Amino acid sequence: MTNVTILDHPLIQHKISILRNKATGTNEFRALTEEIAMLMGYEALRDLPLEDREVETPLETCMTPMLAGKKLAVVPILRAGLGMVNGILALVPSAKVGHIGLYRDETTHEPHEYYCKLPHPIEQRTIVVPDPMLATGGSAVQAIDFIKARGGKTIKFMSIIAAPEGLRRLSEAHPDIQIYIGHVDRCLNENAYICPGLGDAGDRIFGTR
Ligand code: PRP
Ligand code: URA
Repeated sequence: MTNVTILDHPLIQHKISILRNKATGTNEFRALTEEIAMLMGYEALRDLPLEDREVETPLETCMTPMLAGKKLAVVPILRAGLGMVNGILALVPSAKVGHIGLYRDETTHEPHEYYCKLPHPIEQRTIVVPDPMLATGGSAVQAIDFIKARGGKTIKFMSIIAAPEGLRRLSEAHPDIQIYIGHVDRCLNENAYICPGLGDAGDRIFGTR
């Protein structure tokens, strides 16, 4: 899986361990999710294109690198992906934000779309798609399908925890995107939850059940 990068920085691993703890409350869970997204984003965005621009320092004029091209697009998969957006925006405050609404059917575990709104023109932007959990991979594959169908080309998918089967499925379905993962867990259980995982990410971020 050449398009997969595991971001095994000690700070990311430490924070994921706190997320896993069922005693970690909503407030802390939300803050950690943002922090992890920022740390992951720092690595995932290291190939953003630069161009030299003229800047006047207090001493002289110089050519100095700045981000090039159209503004980045951050397109979280609702709901849980919302929890990662502010961490990425802390790095790139001028990014545009789109949304893709998908929920997993509790019985079939198949994703269903209920919303999609992307920044325009999407085809000229680097698109970061955050979702804390990559379980069967169904939601991620469908979200990337939607983005590509609407013209998206340069796509970086970012997930805090992945199951091996979901990661393989996404990588094979979309070999042209870059995938960034904080930790690959052991397996899925019979309800398609990641084990050991952290439970339902959306419920833990928003305090629902
Ligand atoms: C969770 C998670 C992913 C999806 C992963 O969302 O945030 O989007 O499940 O599962 P998959 O890889 O098997 O598709 P969920 O459908 O629970 O919706 P929510 O974010 O609104 O809680
Ligand atoms: N979605 C979650 O939020 N957690 C899982 O373990 C699997 C899917």
